[in-house]
Amino acid sequence: MNTLDLSDKIILITGGAGAIGQVIVRRLLEHGAAVAVNDVLPKEEVKAILPQSERLRYFQADAAHAESVAAMFDAVESALGLPNVACCHAGMVAAHPVTAYPLSEYDKLMEVNVRAAFVVAQEAARRWIARSVAGHLIFTTSWVQDVPWPEITPYTMSKSAMKAMMRGFARELADKGIRANAIAPGIVGVGLAKRQWDTDPSYRARAAKAIPLGYLQTPESVADAFVFLCSDMASYMTGATLLVDGGCSLYPMD
Ligand SMILES: NC(=O)c1ccc[n+]([C@@H]2O[C@H](COP(=O)([O-])OP(=O)(O)OC[C@H]3O[C@@H](n4cnc5c(N)ncnc54)[C@H](O)[C@@H]3O)[C@@H](O)[C@H]2O)c1
Repeated sequence: MNTLDLSDKIILITGGAGAIGQVIVRRLLEHGAAVAVNDVLPKEEVKAILPQSERLRYFQADAAHAESVAAMFDAVESALGLPNVACCHAGMVAAHPVTAYPLSEYDKLMEVNVRAAFVVAQEAARRWIARSVAGHLIFTTSWVQDVPWPEITPYTMSKSAMKAMMRGFARELADKGIRANAIAPGIVGVGLAKRQWDTDPSYRARAAKAIPLGYLQTPESVADAFVFLCSDMASYMTGATLLVDGGCSLYPMD
């Protein structure tokens, strides 16, 4: 038996065209899943990013917008079937000292990281309950959900909120057979962290010091955690956070 076989899974992932998302999508396809990729990026742009596969469909929508998300679920159902795994993976970061943090950026960050995850989880759960589907929610948080990190306090707040959201969905919907878990990556050498690593020398110095294993995380290591968590091997897990962070969360930062 291939215990990491995902051929009975229809997996929706928000932010799936992003730096980590596209690696996750490839891995899920390799393991036989059907994958519905959501992102805000235009279809044309995403064509060059995502692999071509009969088992992959792209759905452009703002995951924070409830009507768009409901329409997206309808479209996913027509194309691939009702997802039995929904990954709330879309996210953003913006770095400023707490005292100078622009509230417009604070609002945007909370919308993308917290509201979008809630909207997608709520829509998935409503459909699963209506059709007695034992669905699985997966939230991408971060090791900073529990550890403060200078200049990204609203981001750490948003990831703490997502962790609390995950535990709330897990607790409230367990009697329906619906599970919720989180994957908390460390400092991945792509996307958000790479941009900071490349442009902000003080971030780079702190980050280099903060990773006990001593090197930036690969997106493949995040993708492997998704494969495991999406698989039946993880079927007794709910309300859990899978830390895949090279030990970052072991350290006080400085
Ligand atoms: N890069 C890291 O080191 C790191 C570490 C821990 C956790 N994470 C988390 O992993 C996830 C992906 O991060 P990344 O580094 O690949 O960033 P990224 O910016 O490359 O990817 C994020 C994707 O989300 C999409 N997106 C933004 N708003 C959206 C919306 N409203 N609806 C749908 N899609 C939307 C973006 O277009 C983008 O493609 C985020 O949740 C991030 O917080 C990243």
